[in-house]
Amino acid sequence: MIRENTEKYMQELKAWLAETADDDLEDMDGFFAKRIDGYEAHMAVWQKAYQSFAGLLPMECRNILDLGCGTGLELDEIWKRNADVAVTGVDLCQSMLDKLRAKHEKQGDRALMTVCADYFQYDMGENKWDAVISFESLHHFFPEKKKELYQKIHRALKKDCLFILGDYLACCEEEETLLRQVYLEKRERSQIPKEQFVHFDIPLTLEHEKELLQEAGFSYVELIDSIEGATLLTARK
Ligand SMILES: C[S@@+](CC[C@H](N)C(=O)[O-])C[C@H]1O[C@@H](n2cnc3c(N)ncnc32)[C@H](O)[C@@H]1O
Repeated sequence: MIRENTEKYMQELKAWLAETADDDLEDMDGFFAKRIDGYEAHMAVWQKAYQSFAGLLPMECRNILDLGCGTGLELDEIWKRNADVAVTGVDLCQSMLDKLRAKHEKQGDRALMTVCADYFQYDMGENKWDAVISFESLHHFFPEKKKELYQKIHRALKKDCLFILGDYLACCEEEETLLRQVYLEKRERSQIPKEQFVHFDIPLTLEHEKELLQEAGFSYVELIDSIEGATLLTARK
């Protein structure tokens, strides 16, 4: 169950889309840079989800890659459980990365490398990571683009290791189709170039997300939980 009351949720979503119908899309980096001050308070609704997400990381993991790490709310929870984890965090938005570094610079012993880059372009290497993680970032992209990324993640993981995904998933086909349609209309209306990333949610259903991961080579994909709309999945190489 992705949402507790699908009918009510869809009514509220439609009302919100009607209210915001005239709003133009903002580019991804600018969207987060503009909201940096209130960002962590806004995400506090997922405190429990961050804790559960962190609990999915096997204790023996030493080097992990976080895609779309932002200010690292998931990393705060991971380091509370295991201070020895070395993290490479990739994000498009330098202000988010600056905040992440500022939070942890007092703990000089935290092994943290930040990379300001597009994760679709970032070279993740091969058989390199004990785990790859991503929380609330990948729902902004179409499945064709995510499929290539999932293949890259699969290659980059060591054997038997996990990709841990926490993300906004669509609760039904109607939500997936509706958001995709509004997104395409908004892009078209503002003549946004094909390669430009914008902030708008286009989540996939659980079935479609699992299919993509399996097509990318993950042998075992498991639904763990769904907390306040953040769905936790693990995919094993
Ligand atoms: C909602 S925030 C989540 C941040 C963090 N994982 C958390 O849960 O607090 C989404 C993040 O994904 C980043 N992002 C979106 N698309 C990206 C891309 N193509 N490459 C790298 N980062 C990206 C954004 O800049 C933003 O920091």
